[in-house]
Amino acid sequence: MKKIGVLGTGTMGAGIIQVLAQNGYEVVLRARRQTSVDGGIAKVTKNLEKMVTKEKITAAEKDEILSRIHGSTDIEIVKDADLIIEAATEEMESKKALFAELDELCKPEAIIATNTSSLSITEIAAATKRPDKIVGMHFFNPVPAMKLVEIIKGMLTSDETRDTVVELAKILGKTPVEVEEAPGFVVNRILIPMINEAAGILADGVADAEGIDNAMKLGANHPMGPLALGDLIGLDVVLAIMNVLYTEYGDPKYRPHVLIKKMVRAGKLGQKTGEGFFVYN
Ligand code: CAA
Repeated sequence: MKKIGVLGTGTMGAGIIQVLAQNGYEVVLRARRQTSVDGGIAKVTKNLEKMVTKEKITAAEKDEILSRIHGSTDIEIVKDADLIIEAATEEMESKKALFAELDELCKPEAIIATNTSSLSITEIAAATKRPDKIVGMHFFNPVPAMKLVEIIKGMLTSDETRDTVVELAKILGKTPVEVEEAPGFVVNRILIPMINEAAGILADGVADAEGIDNAMKLGANHPMGPLALGDLIGLDVVLAIMNVLYTEYGDPKYRPHVLIKKMVRAGKLGQKTGEGFFVYN
């Protein structure tokens, strides 16, 4: 595998692009708008510059990594990629439309992976004529720092496809964990309800935001508190995942808290909009 396509240049897409290019892959990325293409490359550049400052890589290495990245708004750019990783909007209908388009466009032997954080791989694969080559490859935020990749087989994913992406995750310096298809997989089924519960504790006035986060950092040794983590992930993403858990399982324990709904409606999505449970500059 030499050339890897990435769709989407948000927080996750940019992180995935960086890690792939750092490990020697030629990366072709596609976003819908030119500002998103430029924004994705700018995020990677900024991160690599930080690494140069920390003397983890040289300026020449940074330039070499960046030279492996090419972007476009035209989906044709991923046409001859050996593998495509989709990290676009977390919405089933748009993912299905995208996968149907990729299926028509890409080489028949190409694997198409999705970075979905909770949606059904089997349902996404059903939009294509190559369900054996569709697989979940779920990275964690911030991608360059987080060691885990959840590898999810849909009902029709072949063992060969799974083995290929397990191998890729290892080449990227990550630890792959194979999980069965299920809403939220492993991490998000635990993590997202915890953030939802923290919002409930805040809404009930049990403690303030700082108190809740300090309690979990100092009392459970979490690297960051649940509310700051919600802000990092994005409260729109947190809400989308809670909705998937709630509708798929039908269990009231997964009901999204109204405070999170209100904050999303108000555009307080966390770090990416400058305000969530906390304020960011
Ligand atoms: N991009 C790239 N690298 C980053 C980064 C970023 N945004 N933030 C931190 N890092 C790197 C730093 O460069 C540093 O690397 P080196 O040690 O090689 O220099 C390392 O991470 C540690 O960073 P810091 O020392 O600056 O800060 P820290 O020790 O406080 O760690 C953290 C920051 C890694 C974010 C840590 O707080 C943490 O692990 N938090 C929990 C994150 C988490 O749970 N993520 C999962 C979210 S759920 C998800 O993503 C799935 C989903 O589907 C919603």
